[in-house]
Amino acid sequence: MEQTFLMVKPDGVQRNLTGEIVNRFERKGFKLVGAKLMQISDELAKTHYGEHEDKPFFGELVGFITSGPVLAMVWEGENVIATARNMMGKTNPLEAAPGTIRGDYGVTVGKNIIHGSDSPESAQKEINLFFNDNEILSYSKQD
Ligand code: CMP
Repeated sequence: MEQTFLMVKPDGVQRNLTGEIVNRFERKGFKLVGAKLMQISDELAKTHYGEHEDKPFFGELVGFITSGPVLAMVWEGENVIATARNMMGKTNPLEAAPGTIRGDYGVTVGKNIIHGSDSPESAQKEINLFFNDNEILSYSKQD
């Protein structure tokens, strides 16, 4: 079954939005198979956002994501990668549709509440970066 990496960013945790965000993915029907509240190190942030290394906002991005706890999660379900991206809304909250997480709660492109993998390749890479195999659980749940 397909899995994706989702992370409530420091602004989402500080604004007490973690429950609301977990709730949306649970109600949609996806299965939470891994979760941890963690403080991201500078090294992990730079690896995770490596593809943005040359962007002018890279320093700001790394500074922000390491500024407070994040909720790192692995979610499982049919087409969960693309569906979660739709539920998150566009990267820039200004362009994110109402009803999406960023459309409802985000204000700026830097502080946009949540991160989600954009492809099967990045999902695998990001899950492996943030989780050990034994931190991802297998269990059956009610549909
Ligand atoms: P995310 O999906 O976590 O992946 C890369 C992040 O870069 C993106 O969300 C945005 O939060 C951030 N980002 C994109 N553009 C800008 C920008 N112009 N200034 C600051 N951060 C940005």
